[in-house]
Amino acid sequence: MLTCRDNTQLQNRTANRIFYLPFTRLPFTIPAMRRAIYPGSFDPVTNGHLDIIERTCKLFDEIIIGILVNPEKQPFFSIEERHDMLTQVLQEINRGSCEVRVDSFQGLLVNYAVAQQAHAIVRGIRAISDYEYELQMALMNRRLEPSIETVFMMSAESYTYVSSRLVKEVFQLGGVLDGLVPPLIEKRMREKMNNR
Ligand code: PNS
Repeated sequence: MLTCRDNTQLQNRTANRIFYLPFTRLPFTIPAMRRAIYPGSFDPVTNGHLDIIERTCKLFDEIIIGILVNPEKQPFFSIEERHDMLTQVLQEINRGSCEVRVDSFQGLLVNYAVAQQAHAIVRGIRAISDYEYELQMALMNRRLEPSIETVFMMSAESYTYVSSRLVKEVFQLGGVLDGLVPPLIEKRMREKMNNR
């Protein structure tokens, strides 16, 4: 801890910056901003994704929702549609002081994470079946870029079986999506189907 009481002093350290309140002369520390990338296809975003984002907000100052642009896949929604829907439904969640923004990326996730100066990649794990794939990805990403950590968030019990793939299947077969996706997403899925 620095002892100097000069009000104008502003010290830069590797991770933290120390400021001095002009009226109390007591130093206080502003930790470096922690930024995470939450990558995925989000085709469409589900309540499971939103639950992960909401809880991740407690750990980071900023989360970038990175939608993967994958030219090899035929998505239900375009990147622009997914971007728009995510932006809208994110208004409804409890973010606290965390800043959440939506973006898209192509190519290696770790390259994107470095370009965004992120500290971590966040992934949700629903069941043991997710674990093997996620472990492989996390280890490969660490090999490619050791400075980026992968943080795993366990899904809420109520969403352990919810995936974008199943949501689309249930929807296309006429099933009810109540509680699986926000109402706006179900509405947009219906509109998309009607316009096909
Ligand atoms: O929602 P998804 O489809 O499970 O997300 C998968 C995603 C986007 C996280 C993964 O496919 C990815 O990171 N793709 C980017 C390409 C890449 O970096 N591949 C190497 C990962 S080890």
